[in-house]
This record gives sequence, C-alpha cells and structure tokens, in this order.
Amino acid sequence: MIILSGIQPSGTLHVGNYFGMMRPAIELQEQGEAYYFIADYHSMTSLFDANERRKNTLDVALDFLACGLDPAKSVFFRQSDVPEVCELTWLLSSLTPMGLLERCHSYKDKMAKGLSPNHGLFAYPVLMASDILIYDSNIVPVGRDQKQHVEVTRDIAIKFNQTYGETFVIPEPQIRDSVAVVPGTDGQKMSKSYGNTIDIFGDEKPLRKTIMRLVMDSRPPEEPKPDADKNIAVQLLRLVATEDVAKDWEERLRAGGLGYGDLKKALFEQYWEFFAEARAKRSELENNLDHVNQVLKDGASKARERATTVLDRARKNCGLV
Ligand code: ADP
Ligand code: TRP
Repeated sequence: MIILSGIQPSGTLHVGNYFGMMRPAIELQEQGEAYYFIADYHSMTSLFDANERRKNTLDVALDFLACGLDPAKSVFFRQSDVPEVCELTWLLSSLTPMGLLERCHSYKDKMAKGLSPNHGLFAYPVLMASDILIYDSNIVPVGRDQKQHVEVTRDIAIKFNQTYGETFVIPEPQIRDSVAVVPGTDGQKMSKSYGNTIDIFGDEKPLRKTIMRLVMDSRPPEEPKPDADKNIAVQLLRLVATEDVAKDWEERLRAGGLGYGDLKKALFEQYWEFFAEARAKRSELENNLDHVNQVLKDGASKARERATTVLDRARKNCGLV
C-alpha cells in the first residue's frame, strides 16, 4: 500500500496542520510505503519571496522530523526535487475540464477574499493530482479541506484511464473525523490565512499569550455552561490532554464556577507538555542540518525512481513514445 501526502512551505506549521495531517501521516508510516513531501512548487502560487520559501522549506523539514517522521520508514523529500511531476501535470491538464477546477473551494475562497488569481492557483489541483498519481498512491491522509482535491484527482485519473487505457491507481482520501477541523483562536478553522493559529513550535511566552487570547463569550464564571463541549479551549484540550483530563475540565466548565482564564492556563500547560519531546528533538536537528539535507536528498532519489516509472507508463499510454 502506498501512502502519500504533502504540505506547503508557505508559513509556520500550526496545531491544525499537526492534528489534521502530520500526525495521521506519521502514524500511517507504520502501515505501508509512505511518501511525504514538502510542496514547494505549490507554495509558488501564493508566496513570492525566495528566501522565505527556502527558510520555510527547511522549517517544514525540521518540524516533520521532530514530530516523528522516520526517514527509515518514510520517503521524505522536496517536491521540486522530482521535476517529473511537472511533466505529468501537463499530460493531466489536457484532460481536465475547466469546470472541474472552477468548482474547487480553495480557488473560490481565495477569489472571494479578493486575492488576484494567477494561473498556478487555478491549476493547482492538477499539480496536486500529479503529485498523487505519479507515485501510484493508494491512500492520501489530509485534513477535510483537501478532500475535494483528492476527488478531483480521482476524476482526472479515471478520465485518463478511460481515454488512454489503465495507467493510474485511483487513490482514496483518508480523513480522521475526530480532528477533521481543528478550531483556531477565534473558533473558525485554524488556518495561517486567517491569522488564528497556534504554532507547534516557538517560544513559550508568545505561545502562552496566543492561548490566553482564545476568544470566549462574556458569561460570568459562576454560570453553568451546558455547551462546554463547544468551547474552543475544551476542543483543543481534547487533542493535547488525556481523555480523563479533558473530560474533567469540560465537566468543571459545564457545572459553573470555572473561569475561562484558568481553563486557558490548563490548556497551555497541557499543550506545552504535549510537544515537549518534539521540541527537544527539533533543537537537536537544528544543530545537525547536514543530516536533514541528506534525508531530503536520499528521499528525492527514491521518489524520483518511482515517479519516473509511472511517468514513463503515462507517456507510453498516451502516445508520446
Ligand atoms: P492552512 O489552512 O493553514 O493554509 P494548509 O492548507 O497548508 O493549512 O494545510 C496543510 C494540511 O493541514 C492539509 O492537509 C490540511 O487539511 C491540514 N489542516 C490545515 N488546517 C487544519 C485544521 N484547522 N484542522 C485540520 N486540518 C488542517
Ligand atoms: N494542497 C495541499 C495543501 O495545501 C498540499 C499538497 C500538495 C498535497 N500536493 C499534495 C497533499 C498531494 C496531499 C497530496 O495542504
């Protein structure tokens, strides 16, 4: 079974990325042949600073390795180290109906926010399809917001297979319902584009501040909160604390008498503890960048080998060779 996923180096990784995509992906490395990559080509649709891209790419590599991605079990690489993916994008593009892309939420959302769209942003699901199909991937672990893109991938693959004969494996998205959408500090989906994120790594003080700023309602502490399960801090606690601890705080909130400040403090402590081991691992890796670069290089050569095989198959089936 081939498992594949990618993440863009377009900013600092946050807790939503961790629970929605990184942790499920890291756990799946035990269950099959995993391919995980840093989607630097994708980041070009929205990030226009070369140094920032370079820095973010290294940061994503450090974050992933610190969080438990094991290069002995997974193939970990930079997307642009496998340029074959761009050639396959073209083969797929010519079979992708415009309407399919026009319906994509991520594009529509960015348009709605007034971002002036470039062709890359519009065509991005085709590059993503190529990322997935070029490794004969079976399973794609992602957060819910990426589900539509995996569906687009399936549609494109089916069309290619119908037009040119069996070429691609049809992939399945894998979404964990329990963490499908991690809420941000304002209660909306946590996303770097909404400025409501809690970083996985960073300094204690600003992170404590971020958590203390979680948006709550204005009900007084004494008032019982029958809707305690909807509270953002409770929802986040469920991710970083044991079930018993999270349940206990939820019950205290439900009963009344618990102030939001105390709840947030508890959340901070649990969150800080949850990532303690990864934090230590990350500082170790920061002092060993040669190792990190070597991991990416080795990953790229393994990924490229597989990509070349699939691209050759596609080229042959559509009559380029
Ligand atoms: P962002 O929304 O911050 O730009 P990305 O779109 O780069 O994040 O997402 C990278 C991965 O993390 C994707 O698989 C996405 O589904 C997942 N992800 C991002 N935000 C969340 C969230 N709030 N809850 C669950 N998963 C998320
Ligand atoms: N589009 C994904 C995101 O923004 C990243 C990505 C690119 C990806 N190619 C992929 C995820 C292939 C899964 C499979 O989060």
